[in-house]
Amino acid sequence: MAHEFIQVRTEAGKVGIVQLDRPKQLNALNEPLMDELGAALKAFDADPAIGCMIVTGSEKAFAAGADIGAMAGYSFADTYGRDYITRNWETVRTIRKPVIAAVSGFALGGGCELAMMCDFIIAADNARFGQPEIKLGIIPGAGGTQRLPRAVGKAKAMDMALTGRMMDAAEAERSGLVSRVVAVDKLMDEALGAALVICEFSQLATMAAKESVNRAFESGLSDGVMFERRLFHALFATADQKEGMDAFVNKRKPHFQNR
Ligand code: HXC
Repeated sequence: MAHEFIQVRTEAGKVGIVQLDRPKQLNALNEPLMDELGAALKAFDADPAIGCMIVTGSEKAFAAGADIGAMAGYSFADTYGRDYITRNWETVRTIRKPVIAAVSGFALGGGCELAMMCDFIIAADNARFGQPEIKLGIIPGAGGTQRLPRAVGKAKAMDMALTGRMMDAAEAERSGLVSRVVAVDKLMDEALGAALVICEFSQLATMAAKESVNRAFESGLSDGVMFERRLFHALFATADQKEGMDAFVNKRKPHFQNR
């Protein structure tokens, strides 16, 4: 499939990589780009050979936000009537296999929100995160006011949303927004390394782990723990549980078959 705003490739036949590709606009996110991104991720999700995905941008920008020029003239009827954002921006949330955001440079507004919709963020040391929408007379619209406080707490989320300031990679790691920070030239190696580790495991288990961690943000503790317990019990019905434990007991490498 030909793409205009993204590049799509696989690594080692098992990691699906989507690179946002609007360099002149710092990967500003428009509707067709989000459609292409969603379709590419869904295709990887449906491909049994793919065990993990990476969403990344350029060295200068993961994404500098929603395309301001494209939305500047929108009316309420355009946004509400056409279900702007909800229609296609959150497809990444519906992907069942793990998705890593590899962030270099600016991740602002919708770019920061897209990174936060992924399962975890690996950042280059030049990464800058922010929700600067307040400077445009709006507020975050793709979950920024909800996912940022869950990641970094109320104080920093309020600071970011109300002042529009950027957070550097060190602050983002300190605050729990990103899981790892590496030198910019090592970003893709690090993200790919993490993805390949994930690909070694049973896809049933990695999907269940993802689903269960995400449940922590949707439910109270007792319900979340019960959800986890049921998935944990269910995995004992898989051949991969037998294989993983037999391999450990017999001191050999497991060969998971995703069944
Ligand atoms: C459209 C953008 C853009 C954006 C940058 N560009 N961000 N175009 N939408 N969000 C364009 C610039 O207009 C410019 O085009 C080119 O990219 C390079 O940007 P510069 O500003 O020249 O680069 P620099 O001086 O390095 O500054 C980088 C920057 C700045 C700090 C990231 O571009 C900036 O503040 N951008 C806007 C960030 C922002 O407000 N994001 C939130 C958007 S609202 P030309 O043609 O002049 O070369 C949002 C709402 C989310 O995301 C709602 C739900 C998704």
